[in-house]
Amino acid sequence: MTDSLLRRKIIVAKKQEGPALARTLGWPHLVALGVGAIVGTGILTLIGVGADKAGPAVILSFAVAGLICACAALAYAEMATMIPASGSAYTYSYVVIGELIAWIVGWSLILEYSLVVSAVAVGWSGYAAPLLEASLGVPMALMQGPELGGIVNLPAIAIIAIVAGMLLFGTRESATVNAILVIVKIIALGVFVAVALPAFDAANLEPFSPYGFAKHIGPDGVERGVMAAAAIIFFAFYGFDAIATAAEEAKDPDRDLKIGIVGSMFVCVLIYIAVAVAAVGAISYSKFANSPEPLALILRDLGSPTAAYYLGVSAVIALPTVILAFFYGQSRIFFTMARDGLLPKSLAALSPRGTPVRITIFTALVVAVLAGFIPLDELAALANAGTLAAFTAVSVCMLIMRRRAPDAPRTFRTPLPWVVGGIAVLGCIYLFASLPAQTQLWFGIWNVGGLAVYFLYARRNAVAR
Ligand code: ALA
Repeated sequence: MTDSLLRRKIIVAKKQEGPALARTLGWPHLVALGVGAIVGTGILTLIGVGADKAGPAVILSFAVAGLICACAALAYAEMATMIPASGSAYTYSYVVIGELIAWIVGWSLILEYSLVVSAVAVGWSGYAAPLLEASLGVPMALMQGPELGGIVNLPAIAIIAIVAGMLLFGTRESATVNAILVIVKIIALGVFVAVALPAFDAANLEPFSPYGFAKHIGPDGVERGVMAAAAIIFFAFYGFDAIATAAEEAKDPDRDLKIGIVGSMFVCVLIYIAVAVAAVGAISYSKFANSPEPLALILRDLGSPTAAYYLGVSAVIALPTVILAFFYGQSRIFFTMARDGLLPKSLAALSPRGTPVRITIFTALVVAVLAGFIPLDELAALANAGTLAAFTAVSVCMLIMRRRAPDAPRTFRTPLPWVVGGIAVLGCIYLFASLPAQTQLWFGIWNVGGLAVYFLYARRNAVAR
């Protein structure tokens, strides 16, 4: 029994069994895939939720979450170049630690990827709704979930249906379109900074940290503090792990994954800090806290409705790339776990277009229902819980391999591994502890369910030898 819980997958230099994926992606595709997956609802919308929890000190929340995520990204890059097989954190854990932990990580990744799809769809809807109301007269009640006073968030459901349809037709091959949309997003954020930064007024930063540093429950029952905000803002920084799930499709994984992961992370940290400083300095944070479209609101408040409109349209056009990337990542994790026998192979069966049709449709149905009714911050918080579990595991894997096989070839070596790995592991645990108690509970329930599936099905069907 213990043997099988700890059994490890042996794959490093061995050809994978089962269907292989075509190697078509170069490093520019991977950087575009990374930035495409990273820049999204986190910076466009959750910045408002973060400001509500931390006040102007949300800038600090960005710095803390960015630092921890960057350390985890370095560990990721090392593991991704050591084990360039699809499945990312799940596969690294399977090779380095053992089956049970790999299962928990894989199960957490399924949660992460699915809920990111829901959360970003809700974030997309926040920017789309005013445009749909103005152009087509769609009532707001049909474009917001119950927590904002609406009935159902139909645009969020619609965008999930559209992206799922694109995936079913094999759309992810259009890497060029993805790259153009990434540029659209970056220009929109550049316009935001260009308009908001000149309006910077130090008075807007006073008091800088009205809710203190550590997470605590405020008088209104809401969790606040710089760390409570960082635990949500963390959402904005990940997505580079979507690159690692494409490892088997990279032309030159050693070089390309490293450039893709570290490069895209670095670009995003710089952009975010600039946007956060510009946002908080431009107007009082209380005006945009919890807005469904905070950056557009700030631009309107500054008397630039055209820039606000441009930002909204850019978000509506470009955010689907985030949904696409995570949807794709989800199907790849599922595909890899099914190939290992931990999930039913029939669910991961590929269509002639190379798409896992059943799992894509099943995922679409579940995440669409969640997006229709659950508030964005709750979706993002639970997605973060899954991601933090995966990042902790990857960082631990990196440290274990440094001890177990210090001289094994690595084309990317994390600088100061024990410091960087230590910050990543402890930082992820601290961020997890800073999530809302309700989220931690849901995460526990999700994993209890996962363990039941593991012991009743996965362990008996695993093909690892
Ligand atoms: N980092 C991605 C976003 O902010 C998940 O949308």
